Amino acid sequence: MKVLVAHGPNLNLLGRREPDTYGEQTLEEINRMIVTEAAQADIEVKFVQSNIEGELVDAIQQSAQWADAIIINPAAYTHTSVALRDVLAAVDIPAVEVHLSNIYAREEFRHRSLTAAACRGQISGFGAWGYVLALQAARHIVEGESGE
Ligand code: DQA
Repeated sequence: MKVLVAHGPNLNLLGRREPDTYGEQTLEEINRMIVTEAAQADIEVKFVQSNIEGELVDAIQQSAQWADAIIINPAAYTHTSVALRDVLAAVDIPAVEVHLSNIYAREEFRHRSLTAAACRGQISGFGAWGYVLALQAARHIVEGESGE
């Protein structure tokens, strides 16, 4: 099984970006944790992080050639991006949306996700552990669909 893990804008700053909200782990540390978890389940992961909306759109379009599932934290684009929502709907790959913080316990503008409706589900508020949960969800979806 192959999974694209897509990280949106400013997530490259994790570790020093508002640690009370997003935790102290860097993106590199989170990615290492994801790789370790994925390896145990025989899942291959590829990562993309971009601060540019179109680069994320391109990465998701290209993942249609190889990915069985997408895990995406669209970060601020969650709340603004019709383009990301449309590409998630366009590629026929199940996606799981992740947020480190609980977006529903924060400012009102974060309560609305444009992208979540194009995903199978959303995990919000469990910090970096949310990516582990998302891997499990992705595996469940993909294995369930292939009848294993
Ligand atoms: C975030 C929540 C978003 O509202 C915010 O813009 C982010 C990070 C999260 O992981 O909690 O950049 O997606």
